[in-house]
Amino acid sequence: MSKYFIGVDVSTTASKALVVDEQGNVVAVKGYPHDLSTPRPLWSEQDPENWWRAASSALRDVLQQVPAEQVAAVGLTGQMHGLTSLNKDGHPVRPAILWNDQRSIAQCATITARIGEKRLYQLIGSILLPGFTAPKILWVKENEPDVYAQIAHVLLPKDYVRYRLSGAFVADVADGSGFGLMDLSKRDWSDELLDAYGIPRAWLPKLCESQDVSAYVSEEAAAITGLKAGTPIVGGAGDQPAAGVGNGIVEFGGCSLTIGTSGVAFAINTRYAPEPDGRLHTFCGPIPGTWFHMGVMLSAAGGLRWLHDTFAANMSYDEINRHAESVPRGSLGLLFAPYMTGERNPHPDPFARGAFVGLTLRHGLPHFIRAVMEGVAFGMRDQLELLRTLGVHPSEAVISGGAANSPVWRQLTTDIMGIPLYTVNTNEGAAFGAAILAAVGAGAYPNVPAACAQMVRKVDSQDPDPAGKADYERLYPAFQALYPSLKGTFAALAQYES
Ligand code: XUL
Repeated sequence: MSKYFIGVDVSTTASKALVVDEQGNVVAVKGYPHDLSTPRPLWSEQDPENWWRAASSALRDVLQQVPAEQVAAVGLTGQMHGLTSLNKDGHPVRPAILWNDQRSIAQCATITARIGEKRLYQLIGSILLPGFTAPKILWVKENEPDVYAQIAHVLLPKDYVRYRLSGAFVADVADGSGFGLMDLSKRDWSDELLDAYGIPRAWLPKLCESQDVSAYVSEEAAAITGLKAGTPIVGGAGDQPAAGVGNGIVEFGGCSLTIGTSGVAFAINTRYAPEPDGRLHTFCGPIPGTWFHMGVMLSAAGGLRWLHDTFAANMSYDEINRHAESVPRGSLGLLFAPYMTGERNPHPDPFARGAFVGLTLRHGLPHFIRAVMEGVAFGMRDQLELLRTLGVHPSEAVISGGAANSPVWRQLTTDIMGIPLYTVNTNEGAAFGAAILAAVGAGAYPNVPAACAQMVRKVDSQDPDPAGKADYERLYPAFQALYPSLKGTFAALAQYES
């Protein structure tokens, strides 16, 4: 009898259930959208009930296509960092505060001063960002004391769905890292940080490894979703580490570049080696005994979409690609700084902005298009350089997202990265990774690398063009100089934005 594994992805835009078989073939997939609310500038919230409604409906739908008895395990993934606060009866006390909510800037400064920058980076593997979960808890304490007084549990978004599926309060270490409350070298909550925040340990979920069975589907959830009561639920992982697994990045030296709306460089390390200045995230990995490094560019393919929507809305993306191809490398001396929505890595600066530098009367739309593609690829190269400073020297990388689908963008990215880039058999990313973790938890494979060896396959690989690599190597220092030269200008411009 075939066995199936389900990955449930609670993303910002939708919750999705994906069923795969032991060979990694996708058998069924269904998703339902979520609303997002921005009641004030910098705020970003969702109602946890919507996650459950969407996830349980998606599960019910896919279980029309696959018999529940044959589902060996479920794995969870989703948007990271979101604060879901529950009272002692397990009911949300306020809407969840999401990863892209910026309200807790002051709380980050307080905690960073209290712990000390270097010590904090050592503990949490990154500078403390307002997107992380812990500073949001402090924000609630300082701004909504009545709400704070009711809190008995705090959970991440996918772990709220786990709670509704099973009644258990559990997080995996890879997603738990995004709280900013763990001692990541120990893969456990940090008493030093809990004291600094004044947060009781009893509020926090129990931690487990991503592949471990963390809970079982309850009778109540079985009746709602169609899953069989007692089906194991593995720890799972946040969307980025789960996508790493889905892309087969499971060993030291492996690297993926996801150039979608945002741009993420992801690599696995077998030792805990945070970037000393916190310029990359280093979190617990989705495989026991590993950590992952992650660099996040907030606006990647998002920059090209902006250019298209603003100046070429009637143009197809095929035409956009043809324009980019018609222009020589270096876009006739036009450089693009890709920081359209502020930046996280390697320049953590909410005031960073986009810029075209080097404009002349010879430049037209095709040069702008190519310059945007090149600027985004140079931003990804910055992440690769940071990985190299940590001793991670990938000999090749997986490419996915919009840039992978455009031949010209993919080639110039390959030239700028200077290493071969390849694609894999699936583009289901995080949900696929969660299903792989479920397969390991169910015992279908002895470990995650063995599961990936069967379920994830390299599709095609592209080498850098030697002339392209040399041309871009010469241009890269000029790109690297952009942010430091423009930083002060960006800060001065901020006051004119409202
Ligand atoms: C990771 C991060 C995003 C969110 C939403 O640090 O903030 O990937 O998980 O996708």
